[in-house]
Amino acid sequence: MTTCIGMIGAGTVGGGVYEIIMNRLNSSSATITKICVRDANKPRDFQIDSSITQVVTDVSSILNDDSIDLVVEVAGGTTFAKDAVFAALKGGKSVVTANKALIAEYLDEIVKLVDEVNADKSKKAVKFGYEASVCGGIPIIHTLQSAYKGDIINEVSGICNGTTNFMLGKMEDGADYDDVLKEAQDLGFAEADPTADVAGHDVRAKIAILAKLAFGITVPIDTIPCIGITEISVVDFAYAKSMGCTIKLVGTAVRQSEFGEHDGALSVYVSPKLVPLNHLLASATGCGNAVAVDSSNLGTASFTGPGAGRYATANSVVADTMRVVNDTCPSSPFPMLSSSIDIDNDFVSAF
Ligand code: HSE
Repeated sequence: MTTCIGMIGAGTVGGGVYEIIMNRLNSSSATITKICVRDANKPRDFQIDSSITQVVTDVSSILNDDSIDLVVEVAGGTTFAKDAVFAALKGGKSVVTANKALIAEYLDEIVKLVDEVNADKSKKAVKFGYEASVCGGIPIIHTLQSAYKGDIINEVSGICNGTTNFMLGKMEDGADYDDVLKEAQDLGFAEADPTADVAGHDVRAKIAILAKLAFGITVPIDTIPCIGITEISVVDFAYAKSMGCTIKLVGTAVRQSEFGEHDGALSVYVSPKLVPLNHLLASATGCGNAVAVDSSNLGTASFTGPGAGRYATANSVVADTMRVVNDTCPSSPFPMLSSSIDIDNDFVSAF
């Protein structure tokens, strides 16, 4: 049987998803029958096969189409995309999305809605896949959903933004901030409004998602202390180098230890950090991403790879898509649902 997909958005990631599913995958189990775009006449940098795929401008054409079982949302944003994703789930359609801002902001509502819809056992369960939302091409979501079931995670820290990692690498070599930001935008890594990248908001959303997966706690994004890279200058790299370090923008979720009353509390924050050159996080160069997970059984495990870009991010969307098609998605998007760990971000801010 072929699963019919309705895709919302046809930008950089959407184009990659379309090409992989329709041209490279060569599978009869999934096909994209509709794509919803804002402007049907806008030129696109990928070919849409009009004999299979209908381009529509009204999302209800996808949401009300009973032949579509799966909605792939790659439009981004938290208004139109939120309404479409919630309506799709309510209507019994599974959803795969790359939308970190949406998930970070509406994480609890999404979990609740998936549970509510799936409480009706007479209907096919909906699935929610979001592997592409954090670290583009690195399968960190799936790893945290499944590989740490018998372990206790103490810390997750990561370089989760390709744009700023690219910029910091170039600035370390002497490039000018505005020039490298423009270069990152031209390469298609940056958000539509790059403030989300350079101010750390993109990493903040991603570390909130990783914290939920690793610790079972919802950390409201507006409570996460966040410093971006806008104040970093050439002289900072000179100081870093003199200490055998480089500078990386790092999202951190860590359980405090040996701090008396704070012992065991979770702190989540985003900030530029001095990273020793021989540390695994320093190995993420260009638009690469890296995540380090410290846990009781495993010690420190690291995951590195491309964090942004058309095919890297599309690959994660397609992997989720095939998990939905093959019915191998976890039944809950955040399998570790509740935790009694305290959050203590004031403690971090005090430093
Ligand atoms: N702007 C993001 C980044 C895109 O640079 O990492 C991927 O989430």
